[in-house]
Amino acid sequence: MIRAGATQIDLRVEVAGVRFKNPVLPAASELVFDKASAQRIAEAGVGGMVTKTFTTSPEFRIRLRPYQFPLARFDTAYRKSGSFYSLASPHVEEMDVVMEKNVPEIAHVCKKNRIPLIVSFYEKPNEISVWKRVAKGFERAGADMLELNFSSPSMRGELERSLTSSFKIVASVAKSVNIPFGVKISPMMEPLIDAVKGWTEREISFITAHNAPSGIYVDVEAEVPFGAPVIGGYLIGRPFLPVSLARVVQILKSVDLPVFGVGGIFGWGDALQYLLCGCSLVQVGTAAYAEGVGVFKKINQGIVSWMERKRYRSLSDFRGNVLQKIIPSAELKKKEMAPFSLPPGTPYAPVINRKKCTLCQTCCRSCFYQVFHLERREKIISVEKDRCWSCGFCVGICPEEAIHLMDKKTGKYIWKGRGLAQPFMVSQT
Ligand SMILES: Cc1cc2nc3c(=O)[nH]c(=O)nc-3n(C[C@H](O)[C@H](O)[C@H](O)COP(=O)(O)O)c2cc1C
Ligand code: SF4
Ligand code: SF4
Repeated sequence: MIRAGATQIDLRVEVAGVRFKNPVLPAASELVFDKASAQRIAEAGVGGMVTKTFTTSPEFRIRLRPYQFPLARFDTAYRKSGSFYSLASPHVEEMDVVMEKNVPEIAHVCKKNRIPLIVSFYEKPNEISVWKRVAKGFERAGADMLELNFSSPSMRGELERSLTSSFKIVASVAKSVNIPFGVKISPMMEPLIDAVKGWTEREISFITAHNAPSGIYVDVEAEVPFGAPVIGGYLIGRPFLPVSLARVVQILKSVDLPVFGVGGIFGWGDALQYLLCGCSLVQVGTAAYAEGVGVFKKINQGIVSWMERKRYRSLSDFRGNVLQKIIPSAELKKKEMAPFSLPPGTPYAPVINRKKCTLCQTCCRSCFYQVFHLERREKIISVEKDRCWSCGFCVGICPEEAIHLMDKKTGKYIWKGRGLAQPFMVSQT
């Protein structure tokens, strides 16, 4: 419990009987692979621990160097989003060392800090007995949960060719351990819903969604791929959030299972997006690399302040509030009764709040239909309403939030650039 002003705010989460101190965990990565790294992350205020992916197979443990390539120097947008291209692969130490030293020591750190430990691992898809043995080994070594990493590029390809092998892995791990376990997936995993339903039937306790998508970046001056000449790596950063979240929503709409949301979380608002869509927990990777491990506390503090403002006392007070408001796009189209009308017969037009307008002319440059013009003498932006297509772009792009869309018939605002646009509110009833 956290005291925020006069109220007590409870950030604790329970998933499959495992209790997390708060909903913000590190994403599987080099953030946690041994005692020292675990100690640092525990002190950073995480709600639970997730390890780097471990594996038995020596050929998976080959790590090419260098393997992390930040895109910051190519554009400030990449710097702000913390994007980078990574060739990270599973942890490089032998499984014996991991099982006998690293994981027991990490488990000890977790016990001392009263947070649960999730151990991530993967093995070759056809070596079911190895999956079982390793899962049992990690259970003995002190794991509270296991995250079967089905999201590495080598693994994903095999799983998509045959979902059956992933079902076999899940079924056999379920028989061999007594602790809850889940699977971590790639955002390119298909067929998503068949896979998710199949794993759920075979008794996984959670899905971690997602690992980062594959990527490549071209250094145009050098005329070569930036860093490494392969597509097999990961391209990570904040713009990944809406992509990951969309698939998280698909999962949450198709199965009743805890989902741990991952991808592009840099701030408390990002974390809340996943929680409001129904995720039980979130995991943070890149932001800790780009901004330091202080992000874990910052995200939790931000969540607490938001809950205080909204008068929520526990995460269950608001978890999933947004999920039911998201509908299939086909349903939305059915609700559009009017044919698409062209200017001047369009339903809405922009109105500028002149007190807020700084004459920056972003709208003049951005409106594809040339609705806005700078009137130099009057020092105003004029609006040619009869050219407007009612698309809404100017509302979102105006840096001063000075543009609202108005219904031409009723004179009421239908889109102020926040929340749902009014025409779509009918779909919420
Ligand atoms: C350096 C680095 C190493 C990673 N290693 C692993 C890994 O071993 N296992 C895994 O499942 N995901 C791994 N990931 C993926 C992250 O766990 C996470 O799913 C992904 O980066 C998206 O989250 P983010 O946007 O918060 O970084 C790694 C990510 C980074 C940045
Ligand atoms: S974008 Fe907004 S602030 Fe800039 S000129 Fe247009 S209305 Fe004014
Ligand atoms: S709604 Fe679209 S078409 Fe109309 S003024 Fe704004 S950007 Fe231009």
